[in-house]
Amino acid sequence: MTIHCFEDARRGARRRLPWMVFDYIDGAAGDGQGEASNRQTLRDIRLMPRVLNNVMQRSVAVNLFDQQCELPFGVAPMGMCRLANPMADRALAEMAARHKVPVGVSTVSSSSLEDMAKWSEGQAWFQLYCSGNQGGIDPLLARCKAAGYETLVVTVDVPEVGRRPRELRRGFKMPFKMGPSQFFDFACHPRWSLGTLAKGAPKLANFGGVHGEFDRTASRAGADWTLLSEIREKWQGRLVVKGVLNVEDAKKLVSVGVDAIQVSSHGGRQLNSSLDAITALRDIRAALGPDFPLFYDSGIQSGEDVAKAYALGADFVFLGRVLSFALAADGRRGLHQMVDVLHRETDITLAQLGVTSMDALGQSNLA
Ligand SMILES: Cc1cc2nc3c(=O)[nH]c(=O)nc-3n(C[C@H](O)[C@H](O)[C@H](O)COP(=O)(O)O)c2cc1C
Repeated sequence: MTIHCFEDARRGARRRLPWMVFDYIDGAAGDGQGEASNRQTLRDIRLMPRVLNNVMQRSVAVNLFDQQCELPFGVAPMGMCRLANPMADRALAEMAARHKVPVGVSTVSSSSLEDMAKWSEGQAWFQLYCSGNQGGIDPLLARCKAAGYETLVVTVDVPEVGRRPRELRRGFKMPFKMGPSQFFDFACHPRWSLGTLAKGAPKLANFGGVHGEFDRTASRAGADWTLLSEIREKWQGRLVVKGVLNVEDAKKLVSVGVDAIQVSSHGGRQLNSSLDAITALRDIRAALGPDFPLFYDSGIQSGEDVAKAYALGADFVFLGRVLSFALAADGRRGLHQMVDVLHRETDITLAQLGVTSMDALGQSNLA
């Protein structure tokens, strides 16, 4: 299949994936209104085209911490990517290595953090879910250090896992629980079932055996500012805090000494009535001034969306579902097509706006 845009990838994923898996990836908190509202706000942002600026020589490359990324977007951490496609994790990691962009490795990733570090040639960032129980964190941090991770992303917007009715209705569980309805679902999607289940059902690859168990749905409500300060003390590498929407929280994070903040509503998967993440990005950038590193994810589906996030103050952007859908639709080929589409769309948007680089984007490009 040929992917020309986000909707092509999503449609392909919907066709291939069992309903349970599609609903896990596509789903959001509540009735999905929060996710839709953020999308609508992103859509409603209008850009201001400029003409006759000679934009022949342009580049979408950006500097991120101390390296140059060929693309202005990376991979958001996602649990259980291998549900989309058996080689999803590896394909994402290798794509990240090729374009020198970060790939988020979830605490609940379906390939081990060690494999992801190797496949991505050092581009992997480990995403940590932390509860109040510091003991559970130390072994993971030690493994990250041993595997050469330089950047830790602490996700703070999941004190409790959001209620996602589409997931709940399908009986989605990690690890898998196979009941009659799942059996029927998988039987109706034989191509996926033969490709994925035949290779062994995807697991929480960072756990099991000597590494203990992890409950994806466990409460993390005990996490607090003290815990974050402890992590800051223990982790010598770069520390990014993901899942921030509030200006006061952002200011406090700067004072705790984090290296960057990732403005995110978790793709609308946590709080249905949440403030739109793209609005929060604008507000937080205004509050923190132009220099503090701010990343953005949630609802990015096109190169124009990428440009909008940069114009509103993002220094880097992360993508979730769009990449997952592309992998589900057509594996590695689908991923490459989608990344190429997003690259071209971003590049063409720069040309339309009369600018030649991502760092030239700002308020003046908004209509
Ligand atoms: C299937 C799926 C699994 C996810 N798992 C995690 C996770 O384990 N840790 C995390 O911090 N965020 C997780 N997220 C949230 C993403 O990192 C990101 O915030 C979100 O997908 C961005 O929105 P988008 O999908 O609209 O691009 C997940 C998102 C999806 C779609």
